[in-house]
Amino acid sequence: MVSQDHYFTPDPTVASRPRTIRVTLADLSFELDTDRGVFAHGHLDFGTDLLLRTLPPVPAGEVIDVGCGYGAIAITVALRNPDARVWAVDVNRRALDLCARNAERAGARNVVTAEPDAVPGGIRFAAVYSNPPVRLGKEGLHELLLTWIGRIQPEAVATLVVQRHLGADSLAGWLAGLGHRVERVRSKGGYRVLEVHAAG
Ligand SMILES: C[S@@+](CC[C@H](N)C(=O)[O-])C[C@H]1O[C@@H](n2cnc3c(N)ncnc32)[C@H](O)[C@@H]1O
Repeated sequence: MVSQDHYFTPDPTVASRPRTIRVTLADLSFELDTDRGVFAHGHLDFGTDLLLRTLPPVPAGEVIDVGCGYGAIAITVALRNPDARVWAVDVNRRALDLCARNAERAGARNVVTAEPDAVPGGIRFAAVYSNPPVRLGKEGLHELLLTWIGRIQPEAVATLVVQRHLGADSLAGWLAGLGHRVERVRSKGGYRVLEVHAAG
C-alpha cells in the first residue's frame, strides 16, 4: 500500500504504475486508469462509490468536480448528462492527465480538465460535486469549499462525501452556520453524503 499523504502534490515524484479499474453502476459501466501518486490507486474509493450511487439528477450547464483525481465523479456526471459541461479540477497534474485520458476513453467529451485557477471566474455552477481533500486540514478544506460552494447558482446543490471520523458532521454544522441548508442524504460505512444548498 502506497502512502496517500502526498496524493495532492502538483507533480507526484513516485514512479508511475498504472492500474485499470472498472466502475459499474446501475446505469453505466466504464474503465478508468489509476496510478500511484493519485488518490485511490487501483480501486474506487468507498466514499466515491457511495456518492455515485446517491447523486441527484445531473443538471445541464456548468458543473464542477472539485478534486477530480482520476475522474470517477466527473466522468459519471458527464455521461449522465451530455448537456452538462463538467469542469474536472485538481491541483495534481498526474490526476488531471489521467482524468483527461479516462474521459476520452469513456466517451465523455463534455469533461474539461483544469487546474483550479484556470476555471473562468465568472462561471456560476448548476451543481458542485466533491469527495474533498479533507487531509488538507480544516482551514484548507474550509477555504476550498467556500471558494467553490460560494459559486453555485441560487437553486443549486453541492453534493459532498466525507468520512464521519474525518469530520463530516462538524463540516455539515459549519456549513449550516454559514446559512446553507445541509441535508445528510446517505450514511453508510462511516461515510456521509451531504447535499449543501446555496446560502439564502
Ligand atoms: C479525496 S480525493 C478525491 C479524488 C476523486 N474525486 C475520487 O473520488 O477518486 C481529493 C482530490 O482533491 C485534490 N485536491 C487537493 N487540493 C486541492 C485543491 N486545492 N483544489 C482542487 N483539488 C484539490 C487531490 O489532489 C485529490 O485528487
